[in-house]
Amino acid sequence: MDKKNVYILGIESSCDDTSAAVLHDGKVLSNIVANQEVHAKYGGVVPELASRAHQQNIVPVVQQAIAQAGIEKSDLSAIAFTRGPGLMGSLLVGTSFAKSLALGLDIPLLDVNHMQAHILAHFIKEEGSKIPPFPFICLTISGGHTQIVKITDHFEMEILGETIDDAVGEAFDKSAKILGLPYPGGPLVDKYAQQGNPKAYSFSKPRVGDLDFSFSGLKTAILYFIQRETKANPNFIEENLYDICASIQHTIIEILMDKIKNAVKATGIKHIAIAGGVSANSEIRKRLELAEKHWGWNTYIPKFQYTTDNAAMIAITGYLKYLNNDYSDASITAQARLKVTE
Ligand code: KG4
Ligand code: ZN
Repeated sequence: MDKKNVYILGIESSCDDTSAAVLHDGKVLSNIVANQEVHAKYGGVVPELASRAHQQNIVPVVQQAIAQAGIEKSDLSAIAFTRGPGLMGSLLVGTSFAKSLALGLDIPLLDVNHMQAHILAHFIKEEGSKIPPFPFICLTISGGHTQIVKITDHFEMEILGETIDDAVGEAFDKSAKILGLPYPGGPLVDKYAQQGNPKAYSFSKPRVGDLDFSFSGLKTAILYFIQRETKANPNFIEENLYDICASIQHTIIEILMDKIKNAVKATGIKHIAIAGGVSANSEIRKRLELAEKHWGWNTYIPKFQYTTDNAAMIAITGYLKYLNNDYSDASITAQARLKVTE
């Protein structure tokens, strides 16, 4: 039976963003994100503070999402929430809130895997957006994950390669920290890189399997490089910030592009998507657009609002599950560790 006029409320609370979104038949009516400023001064996410901030934010964020969608709670067809992976204390806030609201409204509950949701954000129905056909390859690049995934159906995924140490977002954020930039430094590195020379300094690329990643060696190389240069010139960072950022970013994006090329070669699949916070990066977006022109790939680049953590991606995943009648049991619990294939 066709399901029409479906309103899904999505709730995301896996890390340090509290977000709620309402979708109508797969189209976004609202997508509210409350960022938690409290972590910046600690140089990273403090789990205890994150769960406390989620508790403060969740009611107003959900209320705002429903109000902006122009509907009433009673119009909702189902509630989707992030089950994992993420910080346990943070996940518990969204999980218990979603469960109680679904129970109170007597509507189905849909548990969502955050990693699948980053990928399935590509299925949000929007004017001008391209929806990837199956099978396609997705490079999921975020603060916690770096993976190459083959997607043969909405919920049929296979990990082809992943990082053996740090995630690519961590590589950006830790490099930024070495340069004295506030957390999360990824977007700042991107911003400063636009005015710098990407060839000013070179860092060697890691040697790992064809489809795997490693970023911890790069981080150490950058640390030693900065220590050496600032010893010779204490103002080295200030005087060369743009070039340093451009060179770091260029090295990281080269690594990512090499791996995508390897994945295309290994699978023969030329439909390439990117997802996750780092897919907001301007250089990876540009490089993929060029690959589409020069190498005949079909590339799928998410809109900025669906790159970093957001509830619209949770709601679209919930919607796809809703269409399959794939509802959760009331006994469902949060899972700090969860693979994209689970
Ligand atoms: O997907 P996300 O919001 O959270 C996780 O699930 O991890 O990703 C956050 C990560 C952070 O490491 C942040 O620095 C990075 O995405 N990021 C960027 C950019 N925007 C966000 N990295 C590089 N360039 C950007 N423009
Ligand atoms: Zn994420």
